[in-house]
Amino acid sequence: MVAAQDNTVSGAQFVRPSNPSQPMSGNQLDKKSQAWSALFSEPMSELVKRYTASVGFDQRLWRADIDGSLAHARMLAARGIIGAQDLADIERGMAQIRQEIEQARFEWKLELEDVHLNIEARLTQLVGDAGKRLHTGRSRNDQVATDVRLWLRGEVDAQAVLLADMQRALLGVAERHTETVMPGYTHLQVAQPVSFAHHLLAYVEMFARDAERLADLRRRLNRLPLGSAALAGTSYPLDRDAVARELGFEAVCENSLDAVSDRDFALEYAAFASIAMVHVSRLAEELVLWKSQNFDFIDLADRYCTGSSIMPQKRNPDVAELARGKSGRVVGHLMGLITLMKGQPLAYNKDNQEDKEPLFDTVDTLSDTLRIMAEMVSGIVVRPQAMERAALRGYATATDLADYLVRKGLAFRDAHEVVAHAVKAALQQGVDLAELPLAQLQAFHPLIGADAMAVLTLQGSLQARQVRGGTAPTQAQAQIARHRARLQG
Ligand code: ARG
Repeated sequence: MVAAQDNTVSGAQFVRPSNPSQPMSGNQLDKKSQAWSALFSEPMSELVKRYTASVGFDQRLWRADIDGSLAHARMLAARGIIGAQDLADIERGMAQIRQEIEQARFEWKLELEDVHLNIEARLTQLVGDAGKRLHTGRSRNDQVATDVRLWLRGEVDAQAVLLADMQRALLGVAERHTETVMPGYTHLQVAQPVSFAHHLLAYVEMFARDAERLADLRRRLNRLPLGSAALAGTSYPLDRDAVARELGFEAVCENSLDAVSDRDFALEYAAFASIAMVHVSRLAEELVLWKSQNFDFIDLADRYCTGSSIMPQKRNPDVAELARGKSGRVVGHLMGLITLMKGQPLAYNKDNQEDKEPLFDTVDTLSDTLRIMAEMVSGIVVRPQAMERAALRGYATATDLADYLVRKGLAFRDAHEVVAHAVKAALQQGVDLAELPLAQLQAFHPLIGADAMAVLTLQGSLQARQVRGGTAPTQAQAQIARHRARLQG
């Protein structure tokens, strides 16, 4: 057993500040090695400093941190909790800090742990006592929760635009290919002809749902934690609604414990991002397949491909492969964040500092991926003949012949059986159904007439699927018009 020696942080002796009644001088926060160190009898080791600091990654919250602080300060002044001069000083100091950070002149200090303490210390250095009054009625716990929500809200709004761009890119290609026939697959076996437009429009539906999910989670994200202080609320007469209004939050978080400890907005966001990345990944996988010599349905512009260091003939679809691969990383972040929350007692725990890197990386990965995929899709080269040849090879219109027989009065199961025999014969002869002489087709069933030949064509098959949501060109056009109208609004 190790005795309770005082060279560990947990065993540190709590000592009183030398003169508790004496206020801290101007830039004491900056001079001290830690914001709360008056209680501690020994400094942190370098390793612990590095281990616990988040400033290396949470500095990107700086705009949200300053905006949140200014809204808090204005409310404090409006409520008479700080003076008008204090507010003016805080505003002046924050304006300078904003400039320093923008111009990369701001000195981030590891010993000041995170973005919040770095900015507050600099503020106090610049404006003195007013800077020290800023944290009245506030804790880093409600501050960080507010910052992350504010920051993520900005990213969510940017991604709503990126998702719309992605849909427009797909629509642009779809518009040119409502009559381009390709094989539709189930089990990756040729199933029935579909138009290339129809296939792409399936992805438009997916990305449209992603956009809906994003808009929906934004409502729950857009609530203000500030005013909850450390965990219990505060005794100062804060006006939380005023702060919410100023920061564009739709409401305030109604329970202070929940406000500082909850990160489910981040989980929802990561779940949304994972689903969107899975949609991207499926599209990327199809682009890779279609570009392979065995399909040869499409080509991708050179700028999205890379060569091989050994095989001179290679043009690999690396961008699509990476988009597919990066979906794994985003789904991993969702798992990391969910696991991070599991088992945390209320309220704030330092575990929550671990929400940032996965969240930031999720946002970055999805934004980059949506951008690059939209560009790549817009420039896709489509090879209609290759698609058509592939559709013809796979007896894609067999169902159409069965449906024809049903229209003539046969029961569907019987029609299915008749056509299976016809396909078997065509397979043995190495031809398509449409290439069998009419007389031979008629031998399979007397109801087969000359008009059957039209239904066996790819175009005939496409045109027949007029049901709402089907692959007929008029249906695809209706889908496109609906999406165009939605994306304008
Ligand atoms: N850097 C911290 C985080 O990201 C800020 C909150 C710190 N609060 C605290 N009580 N230590 O979670």
